Amino acid sequence: MSIDAKKIIVSILAIVFLGSLLIVAWVEGGKQRFKPEPEMLLSEESTGCYNCHKEKTPAIVNQWIGSRHGEVGIGCYECHKAEEKDIDAWKHNGRLIATIVTPKDCGRCHEKIADEFSKSSHARAADVDGSIDALLAEKLQGKGTAAVGCQKCHGVKIDFQMDDKGKILKESDGKPMFAEGAWPNTGMGRINPDGSRGACTACHSRHRFDISMARRPEACGKCHTGPDHPQEGIYEESKHGVAFNNALSQGLMKLDKKKWVVGVDYSAAPTCATCHMSASPDQPMTHNTAQRIAWNCRPPVSVHPEDWEVNRVNMQSICLNCHSPAWVDGHFKQYDTAVELWNNRFGEPGTKIMDKLAESGLITQSPFDDPIEWTWYFLWHRDGRQARMGSAMMGPSFAQWEGFAEVARTFYGDFLKQARDLAKSNPEVSKFIESTLKDSGSAWPTDMGADSRAKITKFYQDRYKQNVR
Ligand code: HEC
Ligand code: HEC
Ligand code: HEC
Ligand code: HEC
Ligand code: HEC
Ligand code: HEC
Ligand code: HEC
Ligand code: HEC
Repeated sequence: MSIDAKKIIVSILAIVFLGSLLIVAWVEGGKQRFKPEPEMLLSEESTGCYNCHKEKTPAIVNQWIGSRHGEVGIGCYECHKAEEKDIDAWKHNGRLIATIVTPKDCGRCHEKIADEFSKSSHARAADVDGSIDALLAEKLQGKGTAAVGCQKCHGVKIDFQMDDKGKILKESDGKPMFAEGAWPNTGMGRINPDGSRGACTACHSRHRFDISMARRPEACGKCHTGPDHPQEGIYEESKHGVAFNNALSQGLMKLDKKKWVVGVDYSAAPTCATCHMSASPDQPMTHNTAQRIAWNCRPPVSVHPEDWEVNRVNMQSICLNCHSPAWVDGHFKQYDTAVELWNNRFGEPGTKIMDKLAESGLITQSPFDDPIEWTWYFLWHRDGRQARMGSAMMGPSFAQWEGFAEVARTFYGDFLKQARDLAKSNPEVSKFIESTLKDSGSAWPTDMGADSRAKITKFYQDRYKQNVR
């Protein structure tokens, strides 16, 4: 054989060898991309659920197939299984299961997260009995309204129907019958039959339990919305919300990455989760949303929670991945000033005046039966919160027009007028109102002279060539 022929044979052999390597690699790669049929990975129990439910509730099964749980073979039974002693257990096609899947159930595999969540104020969200809001729902709106309102956000104790002897009534298939109005409920602080608090589905929609959904502002927006807790609207108004929508459409947010560290895995914009829950290079992810909060701006007078200095540093260290220290300090100075201003000028004097009116018998002890009580309630619960929350999260329209402007209008226009009218018959209370206003710097200078008025007139004449009054 000539040297040339040898060369040709060697080349052909080499090509065949390399080619088959490529084919093997392609097949192997294909294998990795190929998703096994879920049954193959599933426990025997869950295979039973799967086979029947893919006919009976196909959408639930399809959601689950596309989920991370489906990929790793965490099946129906692994979440829904129950023990004989569980009061919500029922025999369903040969297996003991529960309809309710609680944080304790999820905690069998996600222990640290369930533990963190149980320590958060989210887990206590159903404890609203005794609040003025609960009174509003129960006594004024009427029983039953809470089930479609308050409890959808806050959660409720899941009770069952009982007979006279206190035994739980069951359906023909043995399923315990839920108490009227108690089910369905996925409120944040739901009190479960096993004693645990919460519903992980409040943020992680079933049956995909898709991590990217929980990172989106809409996941929080079911509850953190409306005039009494306007966080979603504020976020949308803020530059952060604007940057988020833009970054999302450009694929920059990487919401579906397992690891999602601000400044490392994404940088374009923060979502609610970024600031309140997700990881940064020097802080782990947390399921306790209280850990980065330094003011509680919910009550009439804002207060610092325990360990607020630590929480403030936690929050700032998130901002510092995207901003300079001067920028971040500056923001928190502006925010603290706004909160203190609210407290000193409106929250504290308003509270003192309301207390005095009640003490003196000028209003009754029951909330909401005197007009001034409605005025005061909406002043702090709506306008006052919008002002404070808008300041916290960079929503200038909420801070100003829906916040402090409304606060000023209601305080000076309605609240003080009503208080002074009530106190007309009682000089001591009248004096108290005026001195409280003076001490807190809230007295409105109604004695502006013609000079000041002329200046305002001139401003509009220069600007619009007309008089605005
Ligand atoms: C032979 C068919 C079949 C099998 C097997 C089966 N299911 Fe069901 N399942 C149904 C049907 C039909 C319903 C709706 C009627 C009902 O509530 O009984 C249902 C309802 C449910 C409900 C809702 C109950 C409620 O209170 O609303 C859950 C949860 C559930 N199944 C989970 C499971 C789990 C977990 C398994 C496996 C351990 C399983 N199922 C096995 C047919 C089946
Ligand atoms: C990761 C845990 C998990 C897995 C896996 C899971 N479920 Fe569920 N399932 C839940 C949760 C949570 C709920 C909502 C109940 C609650 O709020 O406690 C629920 C509710 C249900 C309901 C009643 C909801 C409705 O809308 O009527 C059915 C039926 C159900 N699951 C069937 C299944 C089936 C079938 C599978 C398997 C294909 C499955 N589940 C897998 C956690 C799980
Ligand atoms: C039997 C164990 C088990 C139970 C019970 C369980 N999970 Fe999981 N879960 C897992 C495993 C394993 C993963 C995959 C972890 C990984 O990706 O490394 C996972 C992943 C997740 C993810 C991440 C999903 C993603 O898109 O990456 C979420 C969210 C989640 N689980 C929530 C829940 C909730 C909520 C419950 C209860 C309703 C629950 N899990 C019950 C084992 C479980
Ligand atoms: C749309 C969801 C939603 C509804 C409906 C709702 N709340 Fe709330 N509630 C919230 C959120 C979110 C907060 C936390 C506000 C914040 O931090 O700004 C809150 C705060 C509260 C607080 C203050 C808790 C604290 O620690 O200061 C009480 C009390 C309360 N709600 C009771 C009620 C009652 C009673 C009802 C029904 C009359 C009700 N809520 C209706 C979402 C809701
Ligand atoms: C207030 C909304 C909220 C609630 C309630 C909630 N989660 Fe999450 N969860 C999130 C967010 C947001 C993330 C993504 C955090 C991040 O950016 O990595 C997450 C991530 C997860 C992950 C993925 C963690 C990882 O390391 O990949 C699991 C698992 C999980 N949650 C389980 C649970 C369980 C179990 C519960 C109930 C005890 C629960 N969650 C309740 C918002 C929530
Ligand atoms: C199902 C309703 C619901 C959803 C969804 C929800 N929250 Fe809440 N959140 C509440 C309620 C109710 C409170 C008030 C709890 C209390 O103190 O009683 C609250 C309180 C808070 C607080 C104040 C915590 C504190 O301790 O000072 C923060 C921060 C918060 N939520 C962030 C979030 C974020 C971020 C998300 C989304 C990832 C989210 N929440 C999703 C209902 C919800
Ligand atoms: C850029 C970071 C950032 C983003 C994004 C963000 N927040 Fe906040 N949030 C803050 C800061 C800062 C505070 C004030 C903390 C304090 O008082 O120390 C706050 C306060 C809160 C409070 C506490 C109110 C109180 O006093 O009770 C809630 C609830 C809340 N945010 C929910 C949300 C929700 C829901 C979203 C998304 C719609 C969101 N936040 C987006 C930074 C952020
Ligand atoms: C993931 C990055 C990221 C994080 C985290 C972040 N920001 Fe921003 N922030 C931005 C971007 C992007 C803008 C818009 C910049 C621009 O184009 O003006 C912005 C704008 C701002 C503005 C200007 C608002 C305006 O109306 O001009 C302030 C103030 C601000 N951020 C403060 C904070 C504070 C305080 C925190 C932490 C609580 C924080 N940011 C967290 C990215 C971030």
